[in-house]
Amino acid sequence: MSQAEGVNVQRRRVLIASTAAIGAAGVAAVATPFVRSWYPSAKAEAAGAAVTQDIGSVEEGQMIVVKYRGKPIFVVKRTEEMLGNLKPVIPLLSDPDSLASLQPEYCANPTRSLDPSILVVEGVCTHLGCAPNYRPDIGATDLGGNDWYGGFFCPCHGSKYDLAGRVYSGVPAPLNLPIPEYSMDGTILTVGEA
Ligand code: FES
Repeated sequence: MSQAEGVNVQRRRVLIASTAAIGAAGVAAVATPFVRSWYPSAKAEAAGAAVTQDIGSVEEGQMIVVKYRGKPIFVVKRTEEMLGNLKPVIPLLSDPDSLASLQPEYCANPTRSLDPSILVVEGVCTHLGCAPNYRPDIGATDLGGNDWYGGFFCPCHGSKYDLAGRVYSGVPAPLNLPIPEYSMDGTILTVGEA
C-alpha cells in the first residue's frame, strides 16, 4: 500500500479494541476488525493495572483505542508521511516541544514516542475532557485546508491536535494530549508501565 493510500480517509478503518471506548472516542462508524486484548479485572483496573494489547495487526495509518484507567488511549500506527508532517505543522502549534505537557521522559522527543511509528496518547481533550475524533485526512477543508496535517479534532469546542497529540494555537485546549506510561515488546504494547 502506498503512503498516499495509507492516509486516504476513505480507506481508513479505526480498530476499536474497547466497546466502551467507541462512544468515548466519538469516532465515525467504520469497519472494525476486532482486536483481541487482555484486560485486567475491573478491580485490578481500578487499581491502575497495566493493560496489554497486541498491535501487530494494526495497519499503517490506522488507529485503535484501548481503555486504561477508564480513559481511551489512542494508538496510531503512523506512516512515513504522517511522521514527515510533524515538522511543517510546528508553526501552527502552541507547545511544539511539549515543554508544558505531560509525557514520560522517554517520550520527550519530537515524535513523543518510544517507536516513532507508534503514537500512544490519551484520547481526552485537555480543555474540558471530551474525546477528540481521529482525523488523519490531510488538507481537510473543515479543519483548515492546507493548515491541516492530520491529527485529532475535538468536536466539543473545536480544539485541534496534530499526530503527536500536540495542540494547535488559538483553540480552547491549553495543553498537548498527555502520553501515558507504556512499553513495547515487539508488537505487544503495555499501557501503564514503563
Ligand atoms: S473539550 Fe475539547 S475543545 Fe472543549
